[in-house]
Amino acid sequence: MAANGASFPRRSFLAAEHYGSAAVAVRERAVYAPRFWHPVAPLSSLPEGSVLTLELLDLLLLLSHPPGGPPRAFLNRCPHRGVALLPPAAGAQPCRRLVCPYHGWTYDLDGRLRAAAREPEFFDPFVRSDWPLTGLACAVRASMLWVAIGPDPLPLEQQLDLVVQELGPELERPRVLLASLERDLACNWKIAHDNTLDDYHVAIAHPTTLHRQQGPVRHYRHRFAAHTNLLATPVAAPGHGGPAAAADFLTFGAPPWIHLLAWPDGRLALISFPPRDPGRCRMQVWLLGDPSQQHRGQEWIEELGAFLEEDRALVESAQRGYASGLKPGPAHRLEGRILHQQALYARIMGLEEPPRSDSA
Ligand code: FES
Ligand SMILES: [Fe+2]
Repeated sequence: MAANGASFPRRSFLAAEHYGSAAVAVRERAVYAPRFWHPVAPLSSLPEGSVLTLELLDLLLLLSHPPGGPPRAFLNRCPHRGVALLPPAAGAQPCRRLVCPYHGWTYDLDGRLRAAAREPEFFDPFVRSDWPLTGLACAVRASMLWVAIGPDPLPLEQQLDLVVQELGPELERPRVLLASLERDLACNWKIAHDNTLDDYHVAIAHPTTLHRQQGPVRHYRHRFAAHTNLLATPVAAPGHGGPAAAADFLTFGAPPWIHLLAWPDGRLALISFPPRDPGRCRMQVWLLGDPSQQHRGQEWIEELGAFLEEDRALVESAQRGYASGLKPGPAHRLEGRILHQQALYARIMGLEEPPRSDSA
């Protein structure tokens, strides 16, 4: 693993002007978000023969799992006049046919139009196969459903490069949803992403929660790949005070705004911070594991919720600081994972001269 002193393409933080501007948010939606895959739901919450709806950024999505086939993702939007086929954020429900509530066009779970009302009476000859639901790329990794919203996303293996390298086949061990958590945060998504990449604050801001999990800072080990970075910390075993590589707690940071936590007992947590508007984001947490771990799901999600609530106060406060014209201070080596993700962001956003803080 690279030492904390790895050389970084950036040595200072992104300027505050990128954290609250509507124009930046529009460009992120147009250029940054479409480059990546987005975790949207656990596979275990979409059984075969069911559908569910959700919102991702400004899009209403409909996920389906046709019997005998792979899961599919569509815009939750009827091609006739644009009405949503199902209410947004509807939980998974058994479904054989989707019937539009406006004029009754009817689709199967593969998105094919199967019937329209009064078909012979359209002005022009009506061909059902001309009017499928609009599909989006959909993938299953780490027992989660991932959706791409652009035509040319980075391959998911590359987006999660270090996760795939470090976890290997363990990543694809079938897992179920143990528990989940969602909160709105009054901060730009980058404040939340930066904070979750910030290995400088844990001992200070989370002394009785995350810091206990991650242990002494002197045992921190970092690794950086093209898209994903890693903090590995040894999990203290009874009678074992030192580093134990085989039993590390792994914290990955990945674009566009996601984090993956992996415990030695096979549990995974996925945390995502999709933006709502320049000053707000949504925090989504999915805890995945073996069905035999189900009885501890609530306890574990409450543990995660405790340190994430400590973070909420900090990120919402930092947002106000940034909004007041802050010139960010110097970056510490334990903030290297932030710089790593910011370099990637700057490259994709086409920031020719990465803005630097005065103290660079
Ligand atoms: S909008 Fe769906 S059938 Fe007309
Ligand atoms: Fe934190």
